[in-house]
Amino acid sequence: MPKENPIVVFKDVKKVYRGGNIAVEHINLTINKGDFVCFIGRSGSGKTTAMRMINRMLEPSGGTILYNGEDIHKTDAVKLRRRIGYVIQNIGLMPHMTIYENITLVPKLLKWPEEKRRKKAKELIKLVELPEDFLDRYPSELSGGQQQRVGVIRALAADQDLILMDEPFGALDPITRESLQELVKHLQEKLGKTVVFVTHDMDEALKLATQIVVMDSGHIIQNASPSEILQHPANDFVEDLIGEDRLMQARADVTTVSQIMLKNPVSITPGRSLSEAVRLMRQRRVDTLLVTDDDDYLKGYIDIETLNTSYRHATSVSDILNTKIFYVVDDTLLRDTVDRILKRGLKYVPVVDKNGKLRGIVTRAAIVDMVYDTIWGDSDDGGESGSEKNENTSRSGAASNAREV
Ligand SMILES: Nc1ncnc2c1ncn2[C@@H]1O[C@H](COP(=O)(O)OP(=O)(O)OP(=O)(O)O)[C@@H](O)[C@H]1O
Ligand SMILES: [Mg+2]
Repeated sequence: MPKENPIVVFKDVKKVYRGGNIAVEHINLTINKGDFVCFIGRSGSGKTTAMRMINRMLEPSGGTILYNGEDIHKTDAVKLRRRIGYVIQNIGLMPHMTIYENITLVPKLLKWPEEKRRKKAKELIKLVELPEDFLDRYPSELSGGQQQRVGVIRALAADQDLILMDEPFGALDPITRESLQELVKHLQEKLGKTVVFVTHDMDEALKLATQIVVMDSGHIIQNASPSEILQHPANDFVEDLIGEDRLMQARADVTTVSQIMLKNPVSITPGRSLSEAVRLMRQRRVDTLLVTDDDDYLKGYIDIETLNTSYRHATSVSDILNTKIFYVVDDTLLRDTVDRILKRGLKYVPVVDKNGKLRGIVTRAAIVDMVYDTIWGDSDDGGESGSEKNENTSRSGAASNAREV
């Protein structure tokens, strides 16, 4: 777990609009520096309300919000707002101001000298791959996607550490949307900005977020990392939001070999005698033994047939050691290995760490269970044959971590 370094903390925050409509209630949430937090939920679930309280565009009706440890209610609202970048849904560029004036609005309010503002504007326009002479245009002279880019960089102009974005890419074509998503993700990762982002779109949230906050009827239903949400949705509502297909897909996409392996496999060192090997096989009821050195590095295997035929002229495990062994590395995604393992018809596959030390084995039975769960989950139409299951998991590329020694 990364170290907690909160930039925004909600403590039992509530917002009641005039007329008694409770928009959000019991909001407890910590946003750490450098995080990318996505609020997701249906229309009217309170996402915008929760976000707008962070920079005091809305005042909570109850509870406390801390910004860098300070109760925002006790700070100057205007100053606070200038410290926090904000991108609103319809971009919100001022039509009578040039792009330059729009971008440098807050820096100007913060009384940056003209030279510094100009430098910043040039730097930012380059960042979103727009020509510098666009700075002198008016918003109406830009396409919708270009305006949206300006909206994003405007939120960055005053070097704010925290950026709030309310469905910023809603109305964009998929290509522009993707390039802006990448830009924002880059800013968050490379420049260490903290982003709070509202979206309706689970794909967008899964792609961008380090933390997803699922809201429903003014409450936080789940607050977790994307992989946690995918693997353990808090309830049916979250499952619905993720969608069945994505859920199934996601399990194979995030499950690593180490998660389904059996630990403590039966192994023997090369110096042991063959009679010891036979005894161990009998005792553990196995017909092969993995061979590791004293430091647990996987060296190969021995099997009962070779042992049987070589018994007269061989004495130690190393004499009959077979070094051609198929193994997988523990952090390999299951989807990248399952097909290989099944096709080879192996009963089990040893799992090693990245240094080659034996960590466990994955049995064929465990894989079949996992493939079944992944593809069919709890559905009860269990009529499919094994071979069909294999085909369904073979869409991924070669298992880069699987090889022979
Ligand atoms: N100014 C307002 N006065 C009264 N009620 C409001 C006001 N603004 C929002 N609401 C209500 O508060 C609730 C939460 O609204 P909010 O805008 O936070 O939802 P949202 O999750 O952002 O929805 P959307 O996805 O449609 O933008 C809704 O029931 C909404 O009708
Ligand atoms: Mg909203």
